[in-house]
Amino acid sequence: MIDLHSHILPCLDDGARNMDETLEMCRIAEADGIHTIIASPHSRNGVYNNDEKTILPVLKKVKEAVKEKGISIEIIPAVDMHIDPEVVTFFKQNSQLLLGERYVLLEFPSQSIPPYTGEFLFKMKLKGYIPIITHPERNTIIQGDISVLHKWVEDGAIVQLTAMSLTGEFGEKVRKVSLKMVQSGLVHFIATDAHSSNWRKPILSKGRNVLEEILDSNRAKAMVEDIPKKILNGKVIESIEIQNSNHTSSSFVKRLFEKKLLLK
Ligand SMILES: [Fe+2]
Repeated sequence: MIDLHSHILPCLDDGARNMDETLEMCRIAEADGIHTIIASPHSRNGVYNNDEKTILPVLKKVKEAVKEKGISIEIIPAVDMHIDPEVVTFFKQNSQLLLGERYVLLEFPSQSIPPYTGEFLFKMKLKGYIPIITHPERNTIIQGDISVLHKWVEDGAIVQLTAMSLTGEFGEKVRKVSLKMVQSGLVHFIATDAHSSNWRKPILSKGRNVLEEILDSNRAKAMVEDIPKKILNGKVIESIEIQNSNHTSSSFVKRLFEKKLLLK
């Protein structure tokens, strides 16, 4: 599997606190079946301002340590960019942090959506960048109405759901919204968004197992391997069929209850 979003680099943000924790996270990921992990520290979120100058030297040290410890995992640099009108300028100066030379991990505030978002995403596309909206299921506005995502996805944005959201580790509300997003065809792939070696670990398999219960196994596999691989290679992701998200089919809900994926 490929984990396209994590905070494994030490001391750059609220992720790994030191090199030991980074190495432990790499071991956990390897044991979970992750062969490639994207190291994407926060940037421009009002607290952290990472760029190539801060990320690449730390990545080099981590790669050396991982090799020395015999951990078999490839680490690729990126950045978890908070939505900001200056994103295009940032990537012109930090192109090594793009995925596949054009994909951008884009994080929203947790309780709002900036009013310029639609136009901003459209302009990014015009400039040749493809936004990946990270964990929209944890944004309270989108939780209230996931149809907000439709237009963005129709316009070519990619959506990343967090594995722990699907397993219920961020609570039942987030899990229900996540399942609805998957059912509505609004999710392209899942990632760990791992921050630590204990509570937010780099584990993808549990999220994939949930996907396998509600999608066919090929599509579930694509969400942890094929689609992330295409992104790393800069390939275009085919559009997915978007269903009316305000309608949750009764048979689908029944199946989730039967599988014990919905608790109430
Ligand atoms: Fe993140």
